Amino acid sequence: MDKIIIEGQRRLNGEVRVSGSKNAALPLMATAILANGPLTLHNMPNLIDLTTMARLLTYMGGQIEIAGGRAELNLSVLSRPEAPYELVKTMRASALVLGPLLTRHGRARVSLPGGCAIGARPIDLHLKALESMGAIINLSGGYVLARAPVGGLYGAHIHFDTVTVTGTENLMMAATLARGRTIITGAAREPEITDTALALLAMGAKISGIGTDELIIDGVDTLHSAAHTIMPDRIEAGTLIVAVALAGGKVLIQGTPNATLKAVYEKISEAGVELAINESNVMVTANGPIKSVDVTTRPYPGFPTDMQAQFMALMTIGHDVSIINETIFENRFMHISELSRLGADITLEGHAAVIKGVSRLSGAPMMATDLRASASLILAALAAGGKSEILRVYHLDRGYDRLDEKLSALGARITRIKA
Ligand code: UD1
Repeated sequence: MDKIIIEGQRRLNGEVRVSGSKNAALPLMATAILANGPLTLHNMPNLIDLTTMARLLTYMGGQIEIAGGRAELNLSVLSRPEAPYELVKTMRASALVLGPLLTRHGRARVSLPGGCAIGARPIDLHLKALESMGAIINLSGGYVLARAPVGGLYGAHIHFDTVTVTGTENLMMAATLARGRTIITGAAREPEITDTALALLAMGAKISGIGTDELIIDGVDTLHSAAHTIMPDRIEAGTLIVAVALAGGKVLIQGTPNATLKAVYEKISEAGVELAINESNVMVTANGPIKSVDVTTRPYPGFPTDMQAQFMALMTIGHDVSIINETIFENRFMHISELSRLGADITLEGHAAVIKGVSRLSGAPMMATDLRASASLILAALAAGGKSEILRVYHLDRGYDRLDEKLSALGARITRIKA
């Protein structure tokens, strides 16, 4: 596996562009299962998770072409409504094919997902909700075996007690071709769900309440070809901003989805980083000391759990004490032991990390454990004196489009050693 070497304490300067969103691209690719013609997606980022999704859709019999940021997905004819363990084990989002397969093909056999090691991450809520639309579901040999009732899934009132992003997406997709009306309350409101809903509208779906916690979907008989441009990745944008904050410097980040980043901008500004926000870009200036700021992760529009590890990296050099509360995933703190190797002072108290800022981090070897944790280690290494080595960069490549190249172009001394 590749590793990344960083010589820290180089200021970042210049311009960088945010790529398309991973968490929007994944459900968007799954929507192609619903259409009776090709779906074209523009602004496709280059990520291992999307390659995995493409392989999965190809395995099912779909025709997928991806080149130069454009994807064409034709799943109008499907020979195998199945997601095997070998393809699903690395990526929990594979569960997103379940709703579309059931509603369009009446059956699905999908391996229970793997993905980041950040907690139990079950899909029980997806399954329970599909059952309320008439699905008959059995678990056997690590697989979900699901069938739609005679005549297909039917509309239902689904309430999610726990806010679930992919659960909301799965059910929204299933409802587009179900008989009658589905109402989803307690729906997640993440911008990637809105992006997916917009593509479904372009395919002929009837969805209202988009962007709210109550989605109303009236099933239609068929969905057709469409084209859609994937929204920019708000987590990549946030990660790049924190990179500048840690390294110091002045960088124009282009193509930022500013309206979706309010909670992140608020906390980064409170930490003393200057953000000049324009229509679709942000100028980040970081010179002075970093202030310690408390953060609690929440479903959108709150502070995203996907930015928690990166923000913690920033707080390691804060001037006081910061408390970071993780309320979404119980076990999303694996980066703490690795950040400590750089000299960070972090203790865990239940679901809260207490970070006492230190005046200096010093480079060390570290091991990436999950996607966002690996980004946080790279960011911390940018601030550390001396050399850091980050192993298992595979996790980074799952969800960041050439992050090391982008940082290098801004002046970071960062090299990738190919396995
Ligand atoms: C999505 C994102 C991920 C982000 C997360 C939270 C994608 C592809 N991934 O993951 O990057 O970190 O939202 O914003 O969009 N839960 C259950 N049962 C279920 C489903 C969820 O107990 O059936 C729990 C989870 O364990 C977790 C919480 O609900 O504690 C939220 O998880 P969820 O929103 O479903 O996360 P994902 O959709 O997997």
